[in-house]
Amino acid sequence: MVNYKELGLVNSRNMFKKAIDGGFAVPGYNFNNMEQIQAIIRGCAESDSPVILQVSKGAREYANQTLLRNMARGAVEMARNDLGSKIPIVLHLDHGDSFEIAKSCIDTGFSSVMIDGSSKSFEDNIALTKQVVEYAHEHDVTVEGELGVLAGIEDEVSHELSHYTKPEEVEEFVSRTGVDSLAISIGTSHGAYKFKVKPGDPPPQLRLDILDEVAKRLPGFPIVLHGASSVLPEYVAIINKFGGKMEDAVGVPEDQIRKAASGAVCKVNIDSDGRLVMTAMIRKIFAEKPSEFDPRKYLGPAREELIKMIIRKNTEVLASSGHGLEISNMK
Ligand code: G3H
Ligand code: 13P
Ligand code: ZN
Repeated sequence: MVNYKELGLVNSRNMFKKAIDGGFAVPGYNFNNMEQIQAIIRGCAESDSPVILQVSKGAREYANQTLLRNMARGAVEMARNDLGSKIPIVLHLDHGDSFEIAKSCIDTGFSSVMIDGSSKSFEDNIALTKQVVEYAHEHDVTVEGELGVLAGIEDEVSHELSHYTKPEEVEEFVSRTGVDSLAISIGTSHGAYKFKVKPGDPPPQLRLDILDEVAKRLPGFPIVLHGASSVLPEYVAIINKFGGKMEDAVGVPEDQIRKAASGAVCKVNIDSDGRLVMTAMIRKIFAEKPSEFDPRKYLGPAREELIKMIIRKNTEVLASSGHGLEISNMK
């Protein structure tokens, strides 16, 4: 049994309290390798932003859960000792789909878990989420649940169509499960192809009316937005210029994410944008320097570009910049 407090991690409770009062959202950035976690920590330390390091089921299979947890421990030490930063850092299971996975993460140093029962019936979702909450809260670990279904891929679960969250269900779900935060479906989806739009047409608006209705029913309760990458067109353009093929990639415009983050949304999940940044830089370097074969020479610049993107997201979109130290100092 490894308790997350021994690793220097915190749960998400204080972050969300501040995020509600301060009109910002905490970033949930996914990582699978060293360059990604370095960039997340450096970008968040430089912008003094709280951060949630997210590990998906795919990441656990790719990189090994024990290694990822120790990378998070190393990231905390790097932030404190080398970067002189006190930003609060959460290690979070993204899209956990069983009690066993959530328990295994809680037992090995995760400070927060998501239990995604969104593809189950309302009653089965409640039963599974409640079981995870009871175990997690015994260890002071916070839990994110989900109501409503996002289109696209949630790990291996593929959904053709999204089902918006039904606002009339949220109070019962939260009170019967005891979850600490709730992911909802208001039109976002996972991955780089979020909407089918004709070239030149704007993507559809998020259903902020559903968010407002949920916020009205759960005043002050932390809401989470998955699938919130903007699929940054400047990086898609670099990818396509240097041999990639992502013509139809479309995301959620950043002004819509900003609007959601200034209200009830306290956590915004971003994975695809980071993937695009790294791929764009690596493709460019491979095309411009075909003789290069030292991974540091292409992963290094990809990491630097990711740091820039993270600082900009934290500052201009989520407004989480400048809140790290103040959250760490909370009692
Ligand atoms: O929710 C999906 C995240 O982007 C994680 O993706 O399952 O490919 O690691 P992944
Ligand atoms: P994106 O694919 O939009 O980055 O969403 C990531 C996510 O929701 C991780 O849980
Ligand atoms: Zn997600």
